[in-house]
Amino acid sequence: MSKLTLDRILHTQGFGTRKWCRQLIAAGEISIAGNVITDTNTPLETDGLEFTVLDEPWIYREHIYVALNKPANIECSRKPSHHPGVLTILPDQFTRRDVQPVGRLDHDTTGLLLMSDDGAFIHTQSSPKHHVPKVYVAATQDPVTPELIERLLKGVKLHDEPAPLAAETCRMIDANHLEIVLEQGKYHQVKRMLAAADNHCTALNRSQIGNLKLDELGLAPGEWCYLDAAQLALLTAPFTKQT
Ligand code: URA
Repeated sequence: MSKLTLDRILHTQGFGTRKWCRQLIAAGEISIAGNVITDTNTPLETDGLEFTVLDEPWIYREHIYVALNKPANIECSRKPSHHPGVLTILPDQFTRRDVQPVGRLDHDTTGLLLMSDDGAFIHTQSSPKHHVPKVYVAATQDPVTPELIERLLKGVKLHDEPAPLAAETCRMIDANHLEIVLEQGKYHQVKRMLAAADNHCTALNRSQIGNLKLDELGLAPGEWCYLDAAQLALLTAPFTKQT
């Protein structure tokens, strides 16, 4: 439980500088339970606080945890150069709160991407020590063969990696698609592993992180949702291997 004045609340939620937030309040643009609030002196309980800004409803969130179905041709880097950045898909308030992608997907990789402004969460999720399995579906240029699956499971040597990297699990989906589960998150890892196994990845989609499945979130490409506590717990729950 914590109490903050309304201008501070708006500032923490990404609505701008304290001065700008006070101006919004003075202009009567903020309502709580249908009542316009112009008081900036009385601290308000933030836990579960619902408010509207310029008629748009918001809920106070100490941190933001978001799942996004990343479309192709969007960059995850902080300074995107060739395509729009992933933050352009999300409300401007998120950029002001310093919401960032948790790890990265290549500009042409689609699928499940987590975003947050919680530094500890970002660290845990992306740290190699925490072994969060990630499930990818790769389209391959050449047919998927039992030998290809075996090589990916046994481990392939990538240029600039000291030891071979192996898939946790890997299975054929159809003649030109395979599902691969990785615990590491090396640069272009799926694409480079397929190349090292003498095939070529023509398209890549991340379908799952831990036990959080994109399918079950019901997000079309470009859509996002907040993650609740139960969904966040799926990220760290013991991983259910694919069958
Ligand atoms: N592996 C890749 O090659 N690219 C991604 O975007 C993610 C994993």
